[in-house]
Amino acid sequence: MPLVTTAALVSSAVSDRRGVAAFNVITLEHAEAVAAGAESAGSPAILQISENAVRFHGGRLAPIAAATAAVAAASSAPLALHLDHVVSRELLYAAEASGFSSVMFDASKLPYEENLAATADAVRWGHERGIWVEAELGRVGGKDGEAPLDAHAPGVRTDPGEAAAYTAATGVDALAVAVGSSHAMTTRTAALDHTLIGALRTAVPVPLVLHGSSGVPDDEIRAAIAAGMVKINVGTALNTAFSGAVRAFLAADGHTVDPRRYLAPAREAMAATVASFLGLLTPAPAGVEAR
Ligand code: G3H
Ligand code: ZN
Repeated sequence: MPLVTTAALVSSAVSDRRGVAAFNVITLEHAEAVAAGAESAGSPAILQISENAVRFHGGRLAPIAAATAAVAAASSAPLALHLDHVVSRELLYAAEASGFSSVMFDASKLPYEENLAATADAVRWGHERGIWVEAELGRVGGKDGEAPLDAHAPGVRTDPGEAAAYTAATGVDALAVAVGSSHAMTTRTAALDHTLIGALRTAVPVPLVLHGSSGVPDDEIRAAIAAGMVKINVGTALNTAFSGAVRAFLAADGHTVDPRRYLAPAREAMAATVASFLGLLTPAPAGVEAR
């Protein structure tokens, strides 16, 4: 089916009181696995390509974006294309030509006022072109190989009052918040601050985004959605599945040279991981108010 927009998937998740998952795409096999997992789960999903993934592809956005969009268009599942963790303005401005309906503009490393000004500018640019814009306030650690942040350190978790002011001043469509998860975790041991999620949901009038969801246990993801999280970003869990399958294959067979022999099980393992995360996005229990 044709690509759908991130805005449409997020807003229908909000009305249905459930989450919508966004999966990082690095290789063609990642995109194929997300499509296969979404089809088997009977769920929509967002395919997201990060600035780091673009860097891996020699700084060229168009080839991986075109391949991912083609995989999505050939799928029977409703899939959207999102550009993730964009720091560079040049990459932001390339989003439109490559068919992205949404961008996460990441100025979270900047001091508050500079983050706000840069994000407001990115939102203006995006809205003039019909592009949905997500931004981050607080610091979800673990990006770019940096050590996970101490989630209890001052300034790391998102402050609800600051988040409300930031959302109003920037006009963002969704807000990524720091509530105890960290990027690139290979164990699912993160403990989220559900009271903070509830306070942020009350203070912030746009959907909330959970980054670093690979490290968050199933029950914590369900509870986060019940408390007000909408977009659930998953990356590392796919790479853990991919690498585990390749490692197991090559350990058992030291002679194969055809990459299809080990990329096929790697892709299947990622598709199973995608389907498993999609199974967690169920409606919040009755009485929980969605925003
Ligand atoms: O934006 C992408 C996500 O936050 C992925 O984080 O690789 O830790 O799942 P993760
Ligand atoms: Zn992230």
